[in-house]
Amino acid sequence: MSQIYARITGTGSALPERVVSNAELEKIVDTSDEWIRTRTGIQQRHIAADGETTGDLATMAAQRALEAAGVKASELDLIVLGTTTPDLIFPSTACLVQHRLGANGCAAFDLNAACSGFVYALGVADKFIRSGQSKKVLVIGAETLTRMVDWTERESCVLFGDGAGAVVLEASAEPGIYATCLHADGGFKHLLYNPVGVSVGFKDEPNHGVRIQMAGREVFKVAVKTLDALVDETLQAAGMEASQIDWLIPHQANLRIIEATVKRLHMPMEQVVVTVDQHANTSSGSVPLALDFAVRSGKVQRGQTLLLEAFGGGFTWASALLRY
Ligand code: UT7
Repeated sequence: MSQIYARITGTGSALPERVVSNAELEKIVDTSDEWIRTRTGIQQRHIAADGETTGDLATMAAQRALEAAGVKASELDLIVLGTTTPDLIFPSTACLVQHRLGANGCAAFDLNAACSGFVYALGVADKFIRSGQSKKVLVIGAETLTRMVDWTERESCVLFGDGAGAVVLEASAEPGIYATCLHADGGFKHLLYNPVGVSVGFKDEPNHGVRIQMAGREVFKVAVKTLDALVDETLQAAGMEASQIDWLIPHQANLRIIEATVKRLHMPMEQVVVTVDQHANTSSGSVPLALDFAVRSGKVQRGQTLLLEAFGGGFTWASALLRY
């Protein structure tokens, strides 16, 4: 039997309407547009309106991806949704989105790998397709991360935004995803986490104490080192050279982290999709948002080779090398 590949046949994304500039943040915390731009590359972020949820953004992104692929929701046999900010504890946001799309009956689940959520979900969906279990899969990365931001903490509140992206993956005799690499090391939990939850208990604090704790400088160092090794591992797994990559679509956390990975690949910045300036860090939303922007702007073309990578809380890190 010939090899089955998972191919991206459509992409979509969604952002909340409200845009918050660095200048607006200057009014609420002791920061400056200059600091945020030079340390992170961020110029603005989108923030969900009251009542607007991860599921709302995910549904919109999914509808656009299905339309681009020419696939009906009823044809889907699996939905995998990467998120750290689900609408409810249960049912999963994937189930909520499934019903809103009208894909009732197919398998649907959420996957929490923090900022690596979408790339993890892509890796899982790839295995379902390669094994012959699924033919048409919706993979989503969606977050309303600003819901767990403490707007008095300048170290973290300037970094995050809300948004969602999605792709439709279909079984194909042509590549397709060549390789995915997924990793985690829970020993780094203390550097980036949210300390509350159902089992540990919520706190008697504003927002029930739900807020991101991050040792930024340490996260930065490990991220750069880990992503370097991940790039090498992914190229090796696919049997490819860095020179064969047309586009790097990295997790959009910090422009300086992206630049370090690019240096490793000896790639010009012109071959890197950068959206961190417009979207900030949207966690699981960041890679599929960047992919959809690159596709819709005409940058990424059919037949090109893309390297997707992400790094986040856990720590988790993941990559996918694919032919678009
Ligand atoms: O999605 C994956 C998870 N997250 C990440 O990948 C984030 C990784 N880390 C980073 O992106 C960077 O470490 C940050 C952007 C978070 C911080 O940049 P940095 O260059 O590592 O700065 P720093 O933490 O070393 O802080 C430098 C200075 C400090 O002041 P002192 O001690 O030098 O006087 C901070 O207090 O900048 C200060 N600072 C700020 N100043 C103005 C920290 N946040 C701000 C702020 N505005 N928002």
